[in-house]
Amino acid sequence: MIRKGILLAGGSGTRLHPITQATSKQLLPVYDKPMVYYPLSTLLQAGIRDVLVISTPQDLPQFQRLFHDGAHLGVRISYAEQPSPDGIAQAFLIGEEWIAGEGCALVLGDNLIHGDHLSSMLCAASARADGATVFAYQVRDPERYGVVSFDEAGNATGIVEKPTRPESPWAVTGLYFYDHRVTSFARRLRPSARGELEITDLNQIYLREGVLKVERLGRGTAWLDAGTPDSLLQAATFVQTIQSRQGNLVGSPEEVAFRMGFIDAAALRARAAMIGKTELGRILHEIGEGHHA
Ligand code: TTP
Repeated sequence: MIRKGILLAGGSGTRLHPITQATSKQLLPVYDKPMVYYPLSTLLQAGIRDVLVISTPQDLPQFQRLFHDGAHLGVRISYAEQPSPDGIAQAFLIGEEWIAGEGCALVLGDNLIHGDHLSSMLCAASARADGATVFAYQVRDPERYGVVSFDEAGNATGIVEKPTRPESPWAVTGLYFYDHRVTSFARRLRPSARGELEITDLNQIYLREGVLKVERLGRGTAWLDAGTPDSLLQAATFVQTIQSRQGNLVGSPEEVAFRMGFIDAAALRARAAMIGKTELGRILHEIGEGHHA
């Protein structure tokens, strides 16, 4: 059972310069919420109630202002600095003491995953005691990501980081579940040619051990990363479309915390009152009143 999750929200955000020259990418708005709300909601949907937010020394205080200790969500949120962007897998070395030899999930602070039955799929991943689970999504530009190839039985056979000639259209998304070996495996990693501790190298260790499960996310799921001007705008439009058309929220940690039973209706209504007279506050209030399925 994986009870802990790291939310990684550092990096340099160069593809969003000049916007990210003075502010954190993961605090930019995606429609009506800060970007980081979406991946936090994903961790909560996996049943994770113990979260470590990692960001740059400059930006970390802003995340603390946003989330405090997490009590309003019925979770525990801790914080740690990544002094320089030395790679995604470094999160497990920074978080080593906090992880304390347990299993740990990781979500990237600019990833948005939304879809049917997602919570049960995520809870199944966090319930696995051994090995690692990652998620693959079919994209038109796999060369931008870690790319998984599969054999005929659907088992993963290889993962390559940003291949010039991708063997498949299946990109690895920014959500990972690792068992208790994660810190010891992360310690084995060495910086890549671009000077980073690569998450793909960590996944390859689990693959070589024969314990990497790659779940393919189907058409009923949307995976977006909001790291460029176009994808940021697309993510915002996606959230706006779903919320205004269906009246369902996307990426509200308050709603997820309530539905997962981490907070009760009174706590949700109190939170809605704090958010105030926005559409988001109104919908949360209605959910707290029992008006939403
Ligand atoms: P990237 O999008 O690969 O990198 P970036 O955010 O620095 O952006 P750019 O390529 O435009 O310069 O990172 C993916 C996510 O991981 C993003 O949410 C930032 C985070 N990250 C860290 O927090 N620390 C790191 O060392 C790296 C490499 C990424």
